[in-house]
Amino acid sequence: MIRRPLPGTDLEVSAIGLGCWAMGGEYWGDDVDDARSAKAVHAALDAGITLFDTAPLYGSGHADEVLVEALGTRRHDVVIATKVGAGPGPDGHARSDLRPEHLIEDTEASLKRLGLETIDLLQVHWPCDLGSSFEDTTATLNDLQQRGLIRHWGLCNYGAEALRSARPATLQTPYSMLRREAEHELLPTCRELEIGVLAYEPLCRGLLTGKYRAPTAFPESDLRSRDDRFTGTRFLRAASFVEVLARAARKLSVPTAALALAWAARQPGITCVLAGAKSPEQVRSNAQAAELLGRRVRWDVIDRVAGLWTG
Ligand SMILES: NC(=O)c1ccc[n+]([C@@H]2O[C@H](COP(=O)([O-])OP(=O)(O)OC[C@H]3O[C@@H](n4cnc5c(N)ncnc54)[C@H](OP(=O)(O)O)[C@@H]3O)[C@@H](O)[C@H]2O)c1
Repeated sequence: MIRRPLPGTDLEVSAIGLGCWAMGGEYWGDDVDDARSAKAVHAALDAGITLFDTAPLYGSGHADEVLVEALGTRRHDVVIATKVGAGPGPDGHARSDLRPEHLIEDTEASLKRLGLETIDLLQVHWPCDLGSSFEDTTATLNDLQQRGLIRHWGLCNYGAEALRSARPATLQTPYSMLRREAEHELLPTCRELEIGVLAYEPLCRGLLTGKYRAPTAFPESDLRSRDDRFTGTRFLRAASFVEVLARAARKLSVPTAALALAWAARQPGITCVLAGAKSPEQVRSNAQAAELLGRRVRWDVIDRVAGLWTG
């Protein structure tokens, strides 16, 4: 597994990380199973994955519980990146509450759940929905850092202006062959300011694995049942792009997912791609991206394939 320094921090992370959203057991259908999720975590450790991305929102803490149970004492040897702020509001819908008291409470609850004395990387899940000022948010995060409850903090889903004013350790943003808007402003800004980038949804929720060849009837419990990337002409266009990618992957004798992940992990400024997975098989398949990163590959050809997607 290729490891990279997280710029501006004392942390080093694997270029392929494990995204733990599905392990929370909500939003990802009816086939999420704790024992299988635990095996996925073990497969990640075996593959040399050292970055695990979770959040209090993922199953209201359930993803954290599954993750730490599976990691056991090895939780001290890896980087657990978690988040802060987002939780269910009074109407049941998720909202970002970044009032200082909530940031502190949320962080302390995460420390307890994760069985840690300090969190390596705490990321604001998304900008505030309740009107707290950004300055108050960053001041509280700095305070948590000074108190030793967190080592570094980052932002998810923020724009370049916030990055310039706050100088977080990391930005977490969507990025994949099918979603490249971060290349316009976010990635150049992160490179300039030496901010690490953790790419989320690097498989476009499974589309870039090549297994969704025809429109799929996802159950209500799967957020993809409401994702227009999985229906109509948008889906059909993506599916024909993925077919070309799959041919390139076959020539390299790797899974399509691994090629998509390796391509994303190679883009200038990307530190780590956070690949979500529900099973050890998926993790092993995704981890083959690391082998590709260390191999001689005609990346100019793969770049041309990636360029076929025009959004
Ligand atoms: N900060 C934020 O706001 C934010 C937002 C979204 C995600 N994230 C983070 O980023 C991580 C990754 O994003 P994501 O999980 O949304 O999407 P993703 O990584 O693009 O897709 C993950 C899904 O693709 C399928 N899959 C993965 N590997 C596969 C393989 N090798 N073969 C076949 N299918 C495979 C699995 O679902 P099926 O088997 O059901 O198809 C899996 O749950 C999350 O887990 C989370 O940690 C953060």
